[in-house]
Amino acid sequence: MKKDIKLLAVESSCDETAASVVKNGREVLSNVIASQIDLHKLYGGVVPEIASRKHIQNINPVIEQALEEAEMAIQDVDGVCVTYGPGLVGALLVGVGTAKAISYAAGKPLIGVNHIEGHISANYICHAELEPPFLCLVVSGGHTHLVMVKDYGEYEMIGRTRDDAAGEAFDKVARSIGLGYPGGPKIDALAPKGDKDAILFPRASIDGAPYDFSFSGVKSAVLNYINGCKMKGIRYSQADLAASFQEAVTDVLVSRTMLAADRYNTNKVAMAGGVASNRALRSRMKAACGERGYALYYPEPVFCTDNAAMIGAAGYYEFIKGRRDGWDLNAVPGLEIQWNTQRNN
Ligand code: KG4
Ligand code: ZN
Repeated sequence: MKKDIKLLAVESSCDETAASVVKNGREVLSNVIASQIDLHKLYGGVVPEIASRKHIQNINPVIEQALEEAEMAIQDVDGVCVTYGPGLVGALLVGVGTAKAISYAAGKPLIGVNHIEGHISANYICHAELEPPFLCLVVSGGHTHLVMVKDYGEYEMIGRTRDDAAGEAFDKVARSIGLGYPGGPKIDALAPKGDKDAILFPRASIDGAPYDFSFSGVKSAVLNYINGCKMKGIRYSQADLAASFQEAVTDVLVSRTMLAADRYNTNKVAMAGGVASNRALRSRMKAACGERGYALYYPEPVFCTDNAAMIGAAGYYEFIKGRRDGWDLNAVPGLEIQWNTQRNN
């Protein structure tokens, strides 16, 4: 009988300190997340130095709790996975340093995991039947990528944002209409009360790069609209603005994903990252996939936003390939997804 592989996973790339124990890459035995949202809310966004300090305070209790909830001691796990990039360098260093200390002291293998691969792999947790190849739209606060998942740990990036990430645009627009941080869930909640066709915001496309995105134009258009209303002394509807902005962003995300799925000849489409829990995006993507007979996958909301279980899922497929990291593993804030493919060769 095949031995079960249980991995402890640690995530600290942005503003969540998280730890989890995952069995065989798909079964979550514990999933502990200490969110710093309330702290960063005061500043309207993540303050890197505050994030690092909070991680260092939370990380040991979070790891202890994850082992406790999985009813395990560190000796019972087969390895330690940790996010080593991309992300905020100070925040990443807390997770990497802690994971190294634990794996060294316990004599367990160490596996560095790419955060974006983690987001994609959250789909393995929520869909037992999902296997590569499939196309994945990664939409988070820091990233907007279209990635062809060719095999476990083998990726081809086929499109990316040229400027702001989709989540970043949600956050900035929400802040400009006074909804607070993080803006994505607030716009998601307000938009159904408004008219999505009230204001026509731009849908940017890039010449010669059909799968790339750009969200800085729609963000500026929203700001211009608000300023224009203020100058004319006109009151605008927050709900109409939220609905129209969300419509413009989801329109682009869905149409570009469908274009890529058609071109790359895949009938499996997945979404990942915080924005993948947006209800309008989910329903529009579902309709577009339904029309074409494509299967659509997305994780449940708790596995869309940052968590460590997704790191344990991605780490498992590296672990069974035999990939291990040395004690020189460092944080790589600008880590690209293609690097992993090269590392595996
Ligand atoms: O994946 P994530 O937790 O962090 C990064 O790796 O960046 O994503 C956080 C982002 C934030 O920008 C947040 O506003 C956005 O995901 N988000 C949403 C929703 N929930 C979270 N955006 C739109 N609709 C939502 N329901
Ligand atoms: Zn993330």
